[in-house]
Amino acid sequence: MQPLEQQAVNGNDLKIFSGRANIALSENICKHLGVSLAKARIEDFPDSELIFKVDEDIRGRDVFIIQPTCESVNDNVMELLIMIDCVRRASARRITAVIPYFGYARQDQKHEGRTPITAKLLSNIITTAGADRVVTMDLHAGQVQGFFDIPLDHLHAQPVFIRYFLEQNLGHLTLVSPDVGNAKVDGNFARKLGADLAIIDKRRISGAEVEACNIIGDVDGRTILIFDDIISTAATICAATSLLKERGAGKIYVGATHAVLCGPAVERLSTAPIENVVVTDTVPVTPEKSNQISNLKILSVAGLLAEAIRRIHFNLSVSSLVEYGTG
Ligand code: R5P
Repeated sequence: MQPLEQQAVNGNDLKIFSGRANIALSENICKHLGVSLAKARIEDFPDSELIFKVDEDIRGRDVFIIQPTCESVNDNVMELLIMIDCVRRASARRITAVIPYFGYARQDQKHEGRTPITAKLLSNIITTAGADRVVTMDLHAGQVQGFFDIPLDHLHAQPVFIRYFLEQNLGHLTLVSPDVGNAKVDGNFARKLGADLAIIDKRRISGAEVEACNIIGDVDGRTILIFDDIISTAATICAATSLLKERGAGKIYVGATHAVLCGPAVERLSTAPIENVVVTDTVPVTPEKSNQISNLKILSVAGLLAEAIRRIHFNLSVSSLVEYGTG
């Protein structure tokens, strides 16, 4: 499918604001759209409260607020809510929260008694703050879309990864899903890459530890691509890598959309037998982290998000974007 004819955006009607979670990504998105970030300030008070002030007229405008809710998750969530509230009170015509990484998405159900469903709580408060729609990417579970009663566009970084891995000419790949939950998404990815699929049976022991128990599929002597939505502590990826090596796998490549990289992740990834760790820029990776993972490659999803924003602005289909992507 060919991209729809490009239509330039009008910076007077489309206003893009950035929270502080990933300003580089917001600026890159604006560059793709040929607009500047709208004028605003965020100020911190000594007691850690903050205030957001818009420095230009946005009455009746189509407003997009870009803020992944990554670390520090709670601060970034609050900043997003305050920004939405502010632009609503400044009479924006429509407010779209662009949340490239949706923190708390993993709390999408009660895994045991007397626990919250924080992904649902977040969807409630984002809507209550005044968002009219949400754009997000590679949610931990697609069902989280249903937590919102406003339109939500769920983008996938897959086209960006597919283009990258096909360009690398790695030969015939076996795509490994590091847990059963990702198998459907990874099956689709494998088909597009012309790869075989294998699945790991994983058990989580604690927040930072998992056990890779078994592999469904043939990995002996294969070139492997492990694909996951998130690398958080890297327990999942490293347990998968060890088991794959035990079972005779050849070179191992890793792809993951959200580089959360917390706790022992950097140390684990820098010592694991992985050729390449490929992530996107939905979450900023500090130079301190990236310098320690010598084989880290960061792909940009700015073009994909910019195209989604342009289509929403012009009321064009966003779902067709997923089919060909624009990295
Ligand atoms: C879990 O189901 C997710 O898809 C990821 O595999 C998980 O959140 C990654 O976390 P960690 O890197 O801490 O194992």
